[in-house]
Amino acid sequence: MTIQNNKNMNKVKASAPGKLMLFGEHAVVYGYPCIVTAVSSRIYVEVEKNNEFKVDAPQVKDLRFVEETVKLFSEKYQVDNKILIKTYSDFSSKFGLGSSSAVTVATIKALCKLYEIEISKKDVFDLGYKVIRTIQKIGSGFDVASAVYEGTIYFVTAGKIIEPLSVKNIPLVIGYSGTKASTTKIVKDLKPDLKIFDEIKQIVEEAKMSLVKSDWKKSGELMNQNHKLLQELGVSTEKLDRMCQVAVSAGAYGAKLSGAGGGDSMIALVSPDKIKMVESAIVNVGGEIIKVKNNI
Ligand code: MEV
Repeated sequence: MTIQNNKNMNKVKASAPGKLMLFGEHAVVYGYPCIVTAVSSRIYVEVEKNNEFKVDAPQVKDLRFVEETVKLFSEKYQVDNKILIKTYSDFSSKFGLGSSSAVTVATIKALCKLYEIEISKKDVFDLGYKVIRTIQKIGSGFDVASAVYEGTIYFVTAGKIIEPLSVKNIPLVIGYSGTKASTTKIVKDLKPDLKIFDEIKQIVEEAKMSLVKSDWKKSGELMNQNHKLLQELGVSTEKLDRMCQVAVSAGAYGAKLSGAGGGDSMIALVSPDKIKMVESAIVNVGGEIIKVKNNI
């Protein structure tokens, strides 16, 4: 009975989470490690057999991620692409939570279900990373890995190391700065500074230990240090700096921009009793609080 249902399964659903970069952005593009955590907000993809290829994805800012995924998947696994794809999202693509990588991974997972193909997480990562590289030409793949492996991971460029970390319930506040940044442009324009990248690597290695120990005080200090180095790299903005500064003054253990910089969002590590104060401090300087639970 189950097998028959499976064979007649013409419509399937899959999903993948958004992410937050905790430590190590930019350096990770150049062969260094980073730490990224998945959030509870997800993108959902529904795929059904159809008489032609069609995509209905109003929340996806760039349909090429879905189209390229279907193209590479059908070439690799020798399946046709006569399907209708619909997407739904818990979060707006403007926040920099990784909607492109999440929709790419969710599409691969849905296609695997539809065609009953079993592939490993590493295979999903490799295919997803290929899609992202084909379209963006640039990027470490940390966001794809986060969408595939979920939880909190230690990641080295192009998936050379993908190590799930045993970290639970990181108490984060997320503030959106109000401007959308182009990750591709910022990454392309950045002048690599190996001295700064080495310092960032040290922070990532220390944060790997402090997060596993739930040592939020130490992790917060490391966030402040990481933010300073990102300022030196020239990727922060006055608004992001201000939001981080007021978060710390209001009692956060630490704060930093999260992602490419140039806009998008910042994160603050905050003990639960101080969350309200930190959130109002961020709002008072013009930030918008994004409500997502991390560590799913
Ligand atoms: C962007 O969210 C993070 C960067 O490190 C780029 C990447 O790793 O692909 C700046």
